[in-house]
Amino acid sequence: MNFEYKYAPQKLSDVIISDSEVRYQLDSYISGDNIKPLILHGSYGTGKTTIAKLLPTEMEGKPVVIELLRATEFNSINDVNELFGCTNNFYKLFTIEGQNRNYVVSNEVNFTHKAAVAFRDIVDEMMFATQFIFTTNNVELLDAGLLDRCTKVFVPAAQPEDWLPRIKWILKQEGVKLSDAKILKFLTTQLGANSSNRSLLRELEDVVFKIRHPQPAKAAAPKPVAKVTLPPKAVVKVFNPLSAT
Ligand SMILES: Nc1ncnc2c1ncn2[C@@H]1O[C@H](COP(=O)(O)OP(=O)(O)O)[C@@H](O)[C@H]1O
Ligand SMILES: [Mg+2]
Repeated sequence: MNFEYKYAPQKLSDVIISDSEVRYQLDSYISGDNIKPLILHGSYGTGKTTIAKLLPTEMEGKPVVIELLRATEFNSINDVNELFGCTNNFYKLFTIEGQNRNYVVSNEVNFTHKAAVAFRDIVDEMMFATQFIFTTNNVELLDAGLLDRCTKVFVPAAQPEDWLPRIKWILKQEGVKLSDAKILKFLTTQLGANSSNRSLLRELEDVVFKIRHPQPAKAAAPKPVAKVTLPPKAVVKVFNPLSAT
């Protein structure tokens, strides 16, 4: 199986988070101090969707039911009402069996202005019983009024040294040995070129494959045959006595 799936974090502590502000904000949700809708934003592959799916379990202290919104484009008030209109009372008043709150996760959320305005009201009414978690690559496109109601958290790239223990663990699972120095060099090069952890795991998979299937040493190239350069043909000048002056 591809490493990005095989080694996808199963719990929040598996997610590599280097940024102290991200940790602080996630802790404020886990402790119950913060109930505002959460917007995780940043470049692709840094772990936004992973965090959005794993945070509710930490908040509840047990596995939870997450409503994953597939309709990421809310084009009209109708779209919003269709989703939350009839169930609105449920989300306002009740929670799914045994949970403290409900959890609605929307990836790559994208609202038109009108839909966002409708959503503002819904968020206000629902937020006590329902935790919203949005993720986006383009936070600047989100409605200012909606943003104002949310906690906005930028998820930056992870640092090589924070990845090191998990990469060592992954390599151990794969039965492959590599020195810390080599792993760190790989991490620094990869994360320097691309902040996506998805791409990092893809490259790691490639490294493991190459270690397991070393290329046969190339046969020594045949020595070039020494070129014999012949001396230029002697130019024989024929003396023509008739043309001689
Ligand atoms: N911070 C991270 N720690 C560990 N694995 C990560 C992290 N971020 C991404 N990944 C890996 O990359 C995959 C895609 O991450 P994802 O959460 O979808 O990124 P995003 O939503 O920011 O684009 C995950 O399934 C996981 O394998
Ligand atoms: Mg995502």
